Amino acid sequence: MQEICMVGSGYVGLVSGACMADFGNEVICVDTDEEKIEKLKRMEIPFYEFALGEIVKRNMDEGRLSFSSSLEEGVKRSKVVFIAVGTPPDAEGEADVSDVLKVAAEIARYMTDYRLIVQKSTVPVGTGAKVRDTIRENLAKDVEFDVASNPEFLREGSAVETFMRPDRVVIGAWSAKAEEILADIYAPLYLNETPMVRTTVETAELIKYTANAYLATKISFINEIANLCEKVGADVKVVAKAIGLDRRIGPKFLHAGIGFGGSCFPKDTMALAKFSEQVGEPLRIVNATISINREQRKRVIDRIRGAVSPAKGKKVAVLGLSFKPNTDDLRDAPSLDIIEALTADGAGVRTFDPVSMPAARGLVKGIKFCRDAYDAVSGADAMVLVTEWNEFRRMDLTKLYSLMRRPVVIDCRNVYDPSEMVRLGFTYFGVGRGTPPPPPSTLAKERVRQAAAGKKKRKKAPARGKRSRAGTARGKTKRPAPSAVIRASAGKARRASGKAGRSTGGRSGATGRKGPSAKPERASARAKGPARKTKSPARKPKGSTAGPRGSARKRRG
Ligand SMILES: NC(=O)c1ccc[n+]([C@@H]2O[C@H](COP(=O)([O-])OP(=O)(O)OC[C@H]3O[C@@H](n4cnc5c(N)ncnc54)[C@H](O)[C@@H]3O)[C@@H](O)[C@H]2O)c1
Repeated sequence: MQEICMVGSGYVGLVSGACMADFGNEVICVDTDEEKIEKLKRMEIPFYEFALGEIVKRNMDEGRLSFSSSLEEGVKRSKVVFIAVGTPPDAEGEADVSDVLKVAAEIARYMTDYRLIVQKSTVPVGTGAKVRDTIRENLAKDVEFDVASNPEFLREGSAVETFMRPDRVVIGAWSAKAEEILADIYAPLYLNETPMVRTTVETAELIKYTANAYLATKISFINEIANLCEKVGADVKVVAKAIGLDRRIGPKFLHAGIGFGGSCFPKDTMALAKFSEQVGEPLRIVNATISINREQRKRVIDRIRGAVSPAKGKKVAVLGLSFKPNTDDLRDAPSLDIIEALTADGAGVRTFDPVSMPAARGLVKGIKFCRDAYDAVSGADAMVLVTEWNEFRRMDLTKLYSLMRRPVVIDCRNVYDPSEMVRLGFTYFGVGRGTPPPPPSTLAKERVRQAAAGKKKRKKAPARGKRSRAGTARGKTKRPAPSAVIRASAGKARRASGKAGRSTGGRSGATGRKGPSAKPERASARAKGPARKTKSPARKPKGSTAGPRGSARKRRG
């Protein structure tokens, strides 16, 4: 059993402190945020994290976990002091370690005998050495101490589970004594054979950044492939699945979408890029990962804007606010940028998130927070799925369709099946699952065209009557589905504006699907091009034209 002080009671400090108490250690969690500490003393968890409340309560009840806003009390009552305060990016994107060093100086002033100071915050290589020097300079008494690094790999949304069952524990130490104390704290994990990587402080510091940068790189990589998929009519979900089945690659972090956000990946990739540059070894892959991610967010937001253009007076439902499911963390959440863009364009935003609305109310003004997802989409001109909470995956799509004023869905996480969405009558935009929507100007033109076309008897689209290699078996539908008509007219609009050569077809974002709107020139391009061999949802047999779309469309006029 070790006596531990955890400085910083945020996501990392509180989860780590509570779980270490659960291992049988005696833990005091300290934070300068007195309101947070008072809440914790009343067993109120300041953020949403599954199973954390239970573990905090159990360990408080059993007297192993306590809270204080006094660092002096924390240092006096412990042998091991973990630093788990924030390391946000500064104006240059570098990790700001000033809170870490401030805490180190303060710890030094309260040390009366040996302490092990463990760096848990994510910090650039060299910070451990700075912590050691800071402590040395600020010691009130000449006492022995060690500094170690124990980077944290927990994942918000499943933080307790990932702390209790980590893939590995990294212990970076300069002395055997420090290493043994840390190994003792994590001893319960030996039972489930958690690998322990014992190394130096510098290596441990770099491991954390390398892990996050690698995961972020996988995301940016698949997003680039997604963009290529859109150009060639391939489906990135199938590409990702197929490559992920290769055990050397693995399936994780290969989900194309709006890119990464949250409190770690954006800041950690940036910090790594900065300090690698400072030491004269700039990491080109990490720099590319960052810029691809930035562009991807912009690209998807442009897509949303295009799909609702002109936005003025439209109602847009934004589903999901947190940067990922199962957390209420809104740090660098794409939802915030999407909402900002939509409101700037004049759209009215209605939103729902199962847990992050209380946190969002303080950050976002002028939007409507709704009871549930169905309430949010009621009367909406478009729905944007931003965070893939399970309850959004399981929505009743028929009900969704009937509630929306216009059945336009922009799926930033590729949660829905494009062919199913189109079959149901939605105008569906995914990421990397076929052809992207036209730019806003073209789309606006296309809407005018549609409105005009609605007054005339609709002519048969040329592609429909023709059989192409791509559409031979499944492209024959006597009456085009309404969404297919939209796609066909969008294609015409593009050809008319001389963009046909670049375009891969007349679809407005419903992906890889070769339905009645496939055109002969597209089919032959496919036959020659790389997309030819790509089997995508587009090739699924076309579903029945029955369903909600007929009647609901009529209602919309
Ligand atoms: N959130 C994650 O998923 C995650 C995962 C692994 C590593 N990390 C890293 O862990 C560190 C902490 O991240 P977080 O998400 O827990 O941040 P956080 O903002 O949730 O928590 C930091 C806490 O430190 C407190 N604090 C600040 N200065 C203090 C001081 N001088 N004394 C005492 N308390 C102080 C703040 O009040 C806050 O409660 C960061 O370096 C982060 O990169 C985060």
